[in-house]
Amino acid sequence: MGNNVQRVAVVTGASQGLGKAIAEKLLSEGKKVAFLSRSQRKLDELKENHLEQVSRDEAVFMAVDVSDHQAMKQVIHSILSKWGRIDILVNNAGIRTQTVIEDITLEEWDQIMSTNLASTFFVSQTVMHAMKEQKWGRIINMSSIGGQDGPLTSSAAYCASKAGQLALTKVFARSLASYGITVNAVSPAAVRTPEMDNVPPDKLEKMVETIPLGRVGEAEEVADLVSYLVSDNGGFVTGATFDINGGRLMR
Ligand SMILES: NC(=O)c1ccc[n+]([C@@H]2O[C@H](COP(=O)([O-])OP(=O)(O)OC[C@H]3O[C@@H](n4cnc5c(N)ncnc54)[C@H](O)[C@@H]3O)[C@@H](O)[C@H]2O)c1
Repeated sequence: MGNNVQRVAVVTGASQGLGKAIAEKLLSEGKKVAFLSRSQRKLDELKENHLEQVSRDEAVFMAVDVSDHQAMKQVIHSILSKWGRIDILVNNAGIRTQTVIEDITLEEWDQIMSTNLASTFFVSQTVMHAMKEQKWGRIINMSSIGGQDGPLTSSAAYCASKAGQLALTKVFARSLASYGITVNAVSPAAVRTPEMDNVPPDKLEKMVETIPLGRVGEAEEVADLVSYLVSDNGGFVTGATFDINGGRLMR
C-alpha cells in the first residue's frame, strides 16, 4: 500500500466527546472521515465547522443508530460506494448507565448490549470485507475502565458490554492479522466530555482524588492515542488494550 493513498475513516458516536475529537483529529491529518451519530441536529452543527472539508469531499455527516444493524450496513455500503474504501473504523458510540444490579431490567440490558457490544461486532463484521480486500485496516474499539475493573459508578450491563469489547478485540485481531488488519482497544476513564458537565463539583473532586495524575483527561489526549494506533507506523500493534486513565488502574 503506497503512502499516497488517502485513508478513509469511519467514526461512530462522532457528534461530541471522544468520537468528535477523534474524527476531527483524523480529518486534520488529511484523511477522509465519515462522522456517524444519532443526532442529525448535532451533526449539522458540526458540519458548519468543516464546510471546507465537506466541499473537498473529505467529510460526511450521517445520522444513524448503531444498534440498528440493517441501517448501519446500508451506511457502510454507501460510504464504500462513495469513497471506494474504508481503512479505519473507530467503534466509539456508546451509552452508559449507573443502575444498581437490583434495578437492571432486560430492556436496559438489551439496549446497552446492542448499542455498545453488538454494534462493535456487526459494524466490524461488515467493514472487514473491504479491509481484507485492501489488505490493510485499522479497527479501534472504545472500551472503558468499566470493562476491566467493574467500578460501582457504572452499571453491570455497561461493564459487561465494555469487557465484551475487549474479547472481540482479541478475536478480530487474531482472525484478521494475516490480512494486515490490526484491531486494538482503547480503555479510558475520567476523560472530560459533555457527560462530565452534569457531574456535581464535589463528586468530580472526589473522582479526581482517585486519579494518581491528579486531573481528568482531555478528549484530545485520547484522539492522539487513536491517531498513532491507526497510522501506518502503528502496524505492529494488535490485540492490545491501551489504558488512558491517569493511573487510576495500573496492571
Ligand atoms: N469519557 C470518558 O471518560 C469515557 C470513559 C470510559 C469509556 N468511554 C467510552 O468512550 C465512548 C465515547 O464516550 P464519550 O464520553 O465521548 O460519550 P458521549 O456521551 O459524550 O458521546 C457518545 C456519542 O455516541 C453517540 N451514540 C450513543 N448511542 C448511539 C447510537 N445508538 N447510535 C449512534 N450513536 C450513538 C452519541 O450521539 C455521542 O455522539 C463511549 O463508548 C464510552 O463508553 C468514555
